[in-house]
Amino acid sequence: MPDPRRSAPAALRNRDAILSALRTLLPPAGLVLEVASGSGEHAVHFAAALPDLVFQPSDPDPRARASIDAWVAGAGLPNLRPALALDAAASPAAWPIARADAVLCINMVHIAPWEAALGLVRGAAALLPAGAPLVLYGPFRRGGAHTAPSNAAFDAALRAEDPRWGVRDLEAVAQAAAAGFGPPTVVPMPANNLVLAFRRAAETPEAETPG
Ligand SMILES: C[S@@+](CC[C@H](N)C(=O)[O-])C[C@H]1O[C@@H](n2cnc3c(N)ncnc32)[C@H](O)[C@@H]1O
Repeated sequence: MPDPRRSAPAALRNRDAILSALRTLLPPAGLVLEVASGSGEHAVHFAAALPDLVFQPSDPDPRARASIDAWVAGAGLPNLRPALALDAAASPAAWPIARADAVLCINMVHIAPWEAALGLVRGAAALLPAGAPLVLYGPFRRGGAHTAPSNAAFDAALRAEDPRWGVRDLEAVAQAAAAGFGPPTVVPMPANNLVLAFRRAAETPEAETPG
């Protein structure tokens, strides 16, 4: 039987820089939902390094979930769960998890239709308590411009592959998130990537019904 484990060279390159950022952004303990886990290598790396957090990987692609589950089984970590089938674009009621203490999404919003980004912020807002983080990693445009020529070339290649894909404007993502989150903390990362860390805003109290 073929080995279902996949390996993503980019994930191996960026995982330690992302881990450094996560150490300052994630809560000290609790459940971290990873959306769009891909190969599963990030979840294994982060779970091994952060044993007080429980990692819940997910991906809508069954081949990705087979890879994640094979890496998870091989790692034998008590704080790492098998993959959930989660499509970020689905309505929050269809997400297969009811709560989390943090949501993490690496390199998805530019390699998926915009509806996935909208669904991600909507679903994360439904899961997270006030103050909890939604952490995104990837390339973003700032102030209407790419942050590097290599990101512009990457954007063009993405759009040529699928016109629904493309490097997103940081401001558009922040605006989409504003219904449930405060403005992001922006952390510069290697290779012209950014971490955007949003915090779940406190619920707006329901208006009282007169009488
Ligand atoms: C470029 S890969 C990134 C994988 C991994 N996070 C990494 O950085 O190595 C993009 C991933 O997004 C997932 N994806 C695409 N559309 C999605 C959606 N609507 N909801 C959740 N994941 C999605 C794909 O299945 C794929 O695993």
